[in-house]
Amino acid sequence: MVASGVVRKASRVGGRPVKIASLATYVPPRLLTNADLEQMVDTSDEWILKRTGIRERHIVDPGVATSDLGQEASVKAIKNAGLEPDDIGVIVVGTVTPDMFFPSTACLIQHKIGAHRAWGFDLSAACSAFTYSLTTASQMVASGAHEHALVVGADVMSSIIDYTDRSTCILFGDGAGAVVLSAAHPGDGAILDFEHEVDGGGGPALCMPAGGSLRQASHETVDQRLHYVKQDGQAVFKFAVRKTEEISRRVLERNGLTPADLDLFVSHQANRRIIQAATEKLGVHPDKVIINIERFGNTTAATIPLALNDALCSGRLKKGNLVLLASVGAGFTIGTVLLRWGF
Ligand code: ACO
Repeated sequence: MVASGVVRKASRVGGRPVKIASLATYVPPRLLTNADLEQMVDTSDEWILKRTGIRERHIVDPGVATSDLGQEASVKAIKNAGLEPDDIGVIVVGTVTPDMFFPSTACLIQHKIGAHRAWGFDLSAACSAFTYSLTTASQMVASGAHEHALVVGADVMSSIIDYTDRSTCILFGDGAGAVVLSAAHPGDGAILDFEHEVDGGGGPALCMPAGGSLRQASHETVDQRLHYVKQDGQAVFKFAVRKTEEISRRVLERNGLTPADLDLFVSHQANRRIIQAATEKLGVHPDKVIINIERFGNTTAATIPLALNDALCSGRLKKGNLVLLASVGAGFTIGTVLLRWGF
């Protein structure tokens, strides 16, 4: 209960201001097009495009893992920030497809990029992994514990997709994005607020049933194809539309803002229709909504940095822009980050 006279804090952000100092992305060169999928399952380019907005996805070659994609994005992000790997204090890697259970992908990336002074860990929040990781790492810079943090969103979804299941295999791709977070100075951009939720009741609607401690890998689990993504597509769709709108509205209202104040809305890219329905309900003008799912599919932890990168490269994202990031993912996990872009 809030005591009378206590003023509700406008933002969850505390400590010193923190900015996104740089951004870099990486996707593997090989393409998996809708025409390719037509040869693999009973589907059509027309159906996929109409129902999801996806034309093609990038897919790794055998032997290429999440840490490899994360390494490529991280090296560029650190360079773009004008830093050396040794300047990084902490690495947070959002992923649902780690190279292996352990060591963590953060350890593998730390070693590959030579960030000798960094500690780090993986963060599991599926499609919300980038917003969760951004919030988590920014707190460590805000507190003064670290000067620079590296946030990586990377997934090799093709490693857990059943390419005989037309309801899921058309959706996903592989990719990585990385940002460096640094203390912000006046006039720089900054992370202004965040909001996150979990609705654990949504677990069965989107999961990989086997391979963990509950259903250990066995011949039986392999035969039953339980090491792949399983989902109730319509339940996920409805939840994602509702929650994207709800959490976005909440964080805007708390900061005295309306959707019209936003310069850019960058949502997790799961389905073009999810993004369009959520932003229509929210009342964000379509010109302010970044949709690049056509070229990448759903890359889980990498969609938001890939979308930010496209916005930046096309001139739609500029210094000083007010940007809202939003995500809904397996769990269910829900997240939003409000920020002022700094470069
Ligand atoms: N090609 C052709 N037909 C298909 C395909 C396909 N690839 N997939 C399903 N169909 C068929 C179905 O069998 C069904 O046929 P029927 O009417 O004869 O039974 C018909 O198309 C309609 O199926 P629905 O499941 O109702 O189709 P819907 O419009 O819901 O689209 C989709 C399915 C694309 C999976 C959608 O529900 C969706 O995107 N859901 C969100 C899931 C998601 O993004 N999850 C991943 C990440 S979680 C997150 O990021 C939020």
